[in-house]
Amino acid sequence: MILLTLSYVTNTRNVHSMSQSNLTKSLPNVIVMATGGTIAGTASAGDDGVYQAGEVPVSALIDAVPEASSLANLTGIQIASIGSQDMNDVVWMQLAKELDKHLSNDSVSGAVITHGTDTMEETAFYLNLVVDSDKPVVLTGAMRPATALSADGPLNLYNSVAVAASEKARGYGVLVVANDSIHGAREVVKTNTLSVQTFESPNMGLLGALHFGSFRMYRKPLKTHTTNSIFSIRSIEELPRVVVIFAHSNMNGDLIRAAVEMGAKGIVLAGVGNGNASKLAIAAMAEAREQGVVIVRSTRSSSGAVLRNQEVDDDANGFVVSDQLNPAKARVLLQLGLTQTDDVKTIQEYFWTY
Ligand code: SIN
Repeated sequence: MILLTLSYVTNTRNVHSMSQSNLTKSLPNVIVMATGGTIAGTASAGDDGVYQAGEVPVSALIDAVPEASSLANLTGIQIASIGSQDMNDVVWMQLAKELDKHLSNDSVSGAVITHGTDTMEETAFYLNLVVDSDKPVVLTGAMRPATALSADGPLNLYNSVAVAASEKARGYGVLVVANDSIHGAREVVKTNTLSVQTFESPNMGLLGALHFGSFRMYRKPLKTHTTNSIFSIRSIEELPRVVVIFAHSNMNGDLIRAAVEMGAKGIVLAGVGNGNASKLAIAAMAEAREQGVVIVRSTRSSSGAVLRNQEVDDDANGFVVSDQLNPAKARVLLQLGLTQTDDVKTIQEYFWTY
């Protein structure tokens, strides 16, 4: 057996790699980057769902799925140990820069990122826009902690390694793999608070399906991503402040004005229906726009697109619409867009393009 040395990870802190004698040249090399979440959660009792997120280190996650070592040589890197409700721009920067570094290495075939499910769709979409590689990048997680009855993390991790190790998964942008399904980063949404079948792609459906590591892809995303994106982690150091404001009946403009006072550079409206809101809220958004804040209208509805100039006069008010991006993803694209420009016509083009 010829041994392979993964010398490029030797300077990284918190690296867990398989012992050199276990590395086989015939297998692809896959990086596993851990950020925390339920997949790394532990419970004192396995049967009541009460747990502490992010406690299990990447080495233990990998060791819990010995079958994955027949698919790839795995190198684990601990990026963070947080529940994904605490995911933030600083960890995003570190994750994307580390990912970019490893994917630039010719001997690496792909990467798996373990992540809490709550905000996985945002991190997936962010990486889909800033990572300049067509190698498979797969986010995965679990709805049940590692110590629970019938934990879903081990099979999700195994399946994710299978996808990340495969040439077949190149060029699809960043993927989310969970519960035997392969989703695209732009479309995937967490839809259920408890069920292992939580991830859906409501507007466009799955990209592929898995069965114990063997998988088939059914369609390719047409929206621009990764290697064709104008956004790159190599040129972004920080992201501007963008907030999401949820529309509801009896809404006034107070929170919109408060966001402007707090220094938000952009506001995403989680609007009702086709991205709408009360007359008072629309008037406050128009005032915010006059003060230079970029306004994106998205929807709190679970599917469908928000289109221009239907019920709201976007041209007159200088608003941008989110197309099919939900408020959380619209926020990511607006943050990235504002690193390039504050011209609303250009930012609207980003929303049609990505
Ligand atoms: C989290 O998002 O970190 C907690 C929930 C989960 O991972 O399923």
